[in-house]
Formats: sequence, structure tokens, C-alpha cells
Amino acid sequence: MNINKIAINTGGGDAPGLNAVIRAVVLAAEKRGWECYGIRDAFNGLMMPDLYPDGWLVPLTAESVRDITSLGGTIIGTTNKGNPLKFPMEDDAGNIVKVDRTDEIIDAFAAQKLDALVAIGGDGSLNIANELSQKGLRVVGVPKTIDNDLDQTVITFGFDTAVSFATECIDRLHSTARAHQRVMIVEVMGRYAGWIALNAGLAGSADVILIPEVPYDLNKIAEKLKTCMEKRPHYAIMVVSEGARPVGGDYSWMDSGEERLGGLGYKLKPKLAEMIGREVRVVRLGHLLRGGSPTAWDRTLSLRFGAAAVRALAEGKHGIMVALDPPTVRYVPLERATRRMKTVPLDSDTMLTARDLGISFGD
Ligand code: F6P
Repeated sequence: MNINKIAINTGGGDAPGLNAVIRAVVLAAEKRGWECYGIRDAFNGLMMPDLYPDGWLVPLTAESVRDITSLGGTIIGTTNKGNPLKFPMEDDAGNIVKVDRTDEIIDAFAAQKLDALVAIGGDGSLNIANELSQKGLRVVGVPKTIDNDLDQTVITFGFDTAVSFATECIDRLHSTARAHQRVMIVEVMGRYAGWIALNAGLAGSADVILIPEVPYDLNKIAEKLKTCMEKRPHYAIMVVSEGARPVGGDYSWMDSGEERLGGLGYKLKPKLAEMIGREVRVVRLGHLLRGGSPTAWDRTLSLRFGAAAVRALAEGKHGIMVALDPPTVRYVPLERATRRMKTVPLDSDTMLTARDLGISFGD
């Protein structure tokens, strides 16, 4: 079946590089004579028409995507609420129930004569994309997340920007930590995978790195920090992943009533300060890791992913995700992409390097 018209959506938390993917998809599609549209705010524009008086589709042209490769965020919007597989709606009795609204998406695509969807997202969005693909929609997924926790691709776009920014922040903390002879705790995002903490901690010369894959023992951390404080230059840098947890203990949850990780640095601070008898300060980088302009690596990867997604559709492929398998981009079945989370292998050479450099993981 020929393709004349395609849609793009961006779902879940934003990541630097989303706009570069959009630009590549639009340009590669236009080159083939296809029309291209963005869906507003993941699928919310389609599912909540009252909130979108201008309609759920945004026309995307070479002109509208000019100069967006370097822009953070996403020009078509995103959300990590409103999953169409479990969309919260009020039933006749006034109760909130979770409804599968994917059939409405399939119908809306048919009504608009949209031939395919390029779904740019993390595990949640790619899972939705897979369901739509199972229902017959032509879908190609593009893996996005600063956390780098998606399986089947060596790297996701957004990750390099997050690691680069975190590293720059850690670099800056060395001088102030040294000047005051303090322990600085830097908390980074990453959900249940320690990719950001490990890579930024290694690049930024941290003394301690806590990641979800290695449950920590507070005594071991205190021991390492004491050693750092006793010898010159009498300061220490500790990078903690938001998803790290103690041996046999729970994750650190934000006090928001939602399942949101965060605040571990602040929880560790008083305990460690008491154990080592030194001043400890905390910096939580949070959403700063998701903002700003993508690095050159992330721009290139995003452009490669976007163009590869269009090539896949042009070759009649769908139900797949584009993935980086260096040195090339390949296609993997969409249903395999979200089957498991990609965590840091404990025997990876990056972990071994960190250990050889004397970095403690609190174990
Ligand atoms: O998945 C990306 C991510 O930034 C995680 O690292 C973090 O736990 C989460 O999203 C934060 O989400 P929100 O934007 O809802 O605060």
C-alpha cells in the first residue's frame, strides 16, 4: 500500500533530540512526496478534542521544522499522562474507570487518511505504539529517553546530553567542594537504571557513585568518604542515581502521591554528615538534565533515527523500532523493545573501569 500521509507523535517525558527526529522525519517524508502531521501532546489532542479547538493535527513542513535541530523540548508537545490504553474516564455511575481508547485512534487515523505513525517515545509510548501496531496501524517506533533504559538499542537519544550536562555540573562542584572541604552529593535522574549516574560520575571524577543496580551499605559509603576527607585535598564528590536504594531497603519516593523517584540525596545527607562528622551539601539536578540543546552526538543520532524511520516505512516495514547497533541503525520488532528494561551490566567494562579507578559503589 502506498503512503501519502503520515503522523508523528512524541510521548512521555521530553528528551533533547525530539525536535531533530521530527525534522528528519518531515524532510525525509517530503522528499518522498508524503504529507506529514504532528499529533498534539502525544495522543491527548485526539482524545480530548474540547481542549484542542484547533484540532489534533499540526501540519509539519520543511519550513515549519527549519532550525529546530538544536531546540530542546518538542514542537508538537508531549505528556506522560493520558495513556490511551488506560485512559481515565467517568462511567455512568460517576466512577473513574480506565478505558482502552486505542480503537478511537485507529478510527481517527482512517478518517484522516493517515497511512502510518512514527511514534517517538520511551517504554510507555512504545508499548502504546506496539498495541496500535497489533491492531493494524503501520507504526515505526523511535527510542527516546535520557535514562538510556530501553532495551534493543545500544543508546537512546537524549542520554548523551543528560550525561554531558551532569558532567559539567559535577566538574563545577569540585572547586567549591575543595574550597570548603565538603562532601557534595549530586543527585541525577535515571529511574531504575544507573546509566546517567555511572557515566557522569566516571567522567566527572566522582569518589562514590550509587546506582540502582548495586544496593548500597551506608557504612561502606561513610568509610570511603572518610578516607577522601582525611587525605588531601580533603573533599569528596558523590553522584547518586534517583533510583538507588540500600541493601534490603526501599527506593526514595517524592512526597507527591505519584510514583515519582527523587530526594535520595537529601535523605542521605544528615545520616552521612553525622557518620563522618563533616559538612555535606546536596545538589539535585532533576529536570535540568532534560532541558536545553542536544549535544552534537544526540542531534546526529536523532536525525539518523528519524530518517531511518521514514526509510523503513518506504521499504514497507512497520511494527518495528529503529535502534542503534553501532556502527549502524537497524530495525527491531516493536514488541521486543519494551519487554525488559536495560540496566547497567555489573560486569561491563565501564563498571570495571570505575572500580579500577577506586570509585566506590557503596558495596
Ligand atoms: O524518564 C525520564 C525521567 O526524566 C526520569 O529520569 C524521571 O524519573 C522522570 O522522567 C521524571 O518525570 P516527570 O517529568 O514526570 O517529573
